[in-house]
Amino acid sequence: MDGNGRWAARRRRPRMIGHRAGARAVNVCIDFCLERGIQALTLFAFSSENWGRPAEEVGALMKLFLNALEREVVELERRGVRVRFVGERSRFSGPIQQRMQEAETRTAHNERLHLNVAASYGGRQDIAAAARSLAEDVAAGRLHPEQIDETAIGARIALADLPPPDLFIRTGGELRVSNFLLWQLAYTELWFTDTLWPDFDAATLQQALDDYAARERRYGLTAAQIVARQTPTDTKDAPSA
Ligand code: IPE
Ligand code: MG
Repeated sequence: MDGNGRWAARRRRPRMIGHRAGARAVNVCIDFCLERGIQALTLFAFSSENWGRPAEEVGALMKLFLNALEREVVELERRGVRVRFVGERSRFSGPIQQRMQEAETRTAHNERLHLNVAASYGGRQDIAAAARSLAEDVAAGRLHPEQIDETAIGARIALADLPPPDLFIRTGGELRVSNFLLWQLAYTELWFTDTLWPDFDAATLQQALDDYAARERRYGLTAAQIVARQTPTDTKDAPSA
């Protein structure tokens, strides 16, 4: 969700106004996903690196975060949204950590939309944490190094219980991934737009989905193989007697 600061600068307003407008765009996306049956949405709200921004901006963002948690959770629960946070939670203040926990507990029974908020998140940190946890098991004799494969790492990475994202969207015109879900994005379709995050709306999201629908996901195979998979020529898919 990039471009809040530039959105505000264009209006000669403080960056925080852009962040507030960005929070509204989040609601637009959630509404869209609920209406259209999209089952998982992961928002990159705050990166591990964002802590390095001026203290004033970080403080204001934290306040915005706390207010949003207080304001939205009841409604999210009612609408069938399950909220989860990924990232280094211990870096947040006590009250924010408590609100995160409450939001997760309160919505844990929901499954209509998995809303994952990456906060103080970094993809490399995520992979490092998985490596550390595997190393601990090896050191304790619970795991053999030969057992460490993609599945073992994938099981210890953030959001391991969800399928990897189908589509990655970055607003704000920058063409990079910026340490988001590095492991999980291996075969994700990437989509970039110059639209600044506060201007992101249902029409832009629809555009991303339309472009996505026209992509061919080959996972390293040939186009012919993919076509053959989609149109079975033998009887293995026929109803069995
Ligand atoms: C993204 O907008 C929001 C956060 C990182 C919290 P930016 O704040 O990065 O906006 P620009 O890139 O300065 O326009
Ligand atoms: Mg930015």
